[in-house]
Amino acid sequence: MQKRSKSDAIKIHDLDDFSRMRSAGRVAAQILDDITEFVFPGQLTSEIDRQINRMIDDAGATSATIGYRGYQHASCISVNHVVCHGIPSNKRLRFGDILNIDVTVIINGWFGDTSRMYIAGQPNRKSERLIQVTHDALMKGIEQIKPGNTFGDIGYAIQSYVESHRMSVVRDFCGHGLGKVFHAPPNVLHFGKAGSGTVLETGMFFTVEPMVNLGRAETKTLPDNWTAVTRDKSLSAQFEHSVGVTENGVEIFTLSPSDNFFPKVG
Ligand code: MF3
Ligand code: CO
Ligand code: CO
Repeated sequence: MQKRSKSDAIKIHDLDDFSRMRSAGRVAAQILDDITEFVFPGQLTSEIDRQINRMIDDAGATSATIGYRGYQHASCISVNHVVCHGIPSNKRLRFGDILNIDVTVIINGWFGDTSRMYIAGQPNRKSERLIQVTHDALMKGIEQIKPGNTFGDIGYAIQSYVESHRMSVVRDFCGHGLGKVFHAPPNVLHFGKAGSGTVLETGMFFTVEPMVNLGRAETKTLPDNWTAVTRDKSLSAQFEHSVGVTENGVEIFTLSPSDNFFPKVG
């Protein structure tokens, strides 16, 4: 996800571009399906990243994150109170850990960006609720996407749903336009006012990727300059889809081919 910054003109894509994004999104989503079996208590997050790197290679794709602003890994793996941009490391997952795995691939120059939650073993009731609310918040946001609605409608749907469950939406990071670039305008905020902001138009491509905390919304970035954590150390979750605005509504480019986007428990 993006640090918030000023936005600019939003590119409008044509039908051929939709099919290119479909291919890129499908590869990223398939990798998130296939990584599931490598997530278990005792596993190293660096090993998960190594497997992702191999899968990207096997798919004939390129990692968008390796070399991006000095980042050196094929994924971000954000465990428990890590909000986003967790760096794969030689730390072992422990029973009950919840983690987000975020992968962005490039296929023929087009970017597919998606992330989901995984559980090492079994979640406790609080982490299970957090994962459910975060997933449902993303889908509520996506339901707002159609020409004529606004980016504020997306943010409002996410924020109001999350806050109705007494959880908080992270303000420090947002979704982003993408296509033939990784991070393009606009900033897609996961909070806001209904009816505010830029009007959605057919052909816009962007991500929606809310981060939700069990505690307060504030984050801080660790001295490694990547890892963002909750200031109050509360648990955080995130789901991300890459989408396109269609004439009738929305196309999700990063749907799970095996319908595994929401983690199966047990
Ligand atoms: N995939 C992340 C996003 O959703 C960006 C990761 S950039 C990295 O926008 F360098 F941290 F990998
Ligand atoms: Co993204
Ligand atoms: Co991402």
